[in-house]
Amino acid sequence: MENNVTMIQGAGQGVGLALAAHILEHQDNSVVVATCREPDKSSGLEKLQQKYASRLVTQKLDVSSEKSIVSASEKISSQIEHISLLINSSGILHDDSIYPEKKISGYLSL
Ligand SMILES: NC(=O)c1ccc[n+]([C@@H]2O[C@H](COP(=O)([O-])OP(=O)(O)OC[C@H]3O[C@@H](n4cnc5c(N)ncnc54)[C@H](OP(=O)(O)O)[C@@H]3O)[C@@H](O)[C@H]2O)c1
Repeated sequence: MENNVTMIQGAGQGVGLALAAHILEHQDNSVVVATCREPDKSSGLEKLQQKYASRLVTQKLDVSSEKSIVSASEKISSQIEHISLLINSSGILHDDSIYPEKKISGYLSL
């Protein structure tokens, strides 16, 4: 399961979901870790799960919450040894108190 693992933040809809679908469709050996705050409410992720169940890992993650980052990192790390590519499409803007990509890089093996 460790070939070409792409983690996408903000994969529930929009650009992130489109990237997840494209990678799964065009790269047979790819694994996508798709995260957003409410993955269970994403009809797009549900459709991908039905089609690519063995290559799609979904995980609840709010990139603005330290607690959520730590929890998601632990759960993802228990299933995935190495992430090849991290795509941040979470649909939030930076301000002085939010630096999600710096936080998650400290927990995952990138
Ligand atoms: N669409 C475009 O044409 C375009 C063009 C250039 C740049 N961008 C940029 O690309 C990014 C994504 O755009 P989009 O149009 O795909 O947005 P979108 O359709 O609103 O999708 C945003 C995704 O991010 C997730 N999300 C929102 N807040 C989050 C959080 N705190 N933690 C984790 N996930 C979160 C949402 O799911 P949940 O609500 O379940 O968390 C959703 O899956 C934005 O930063 C946008 O500025 C978009």
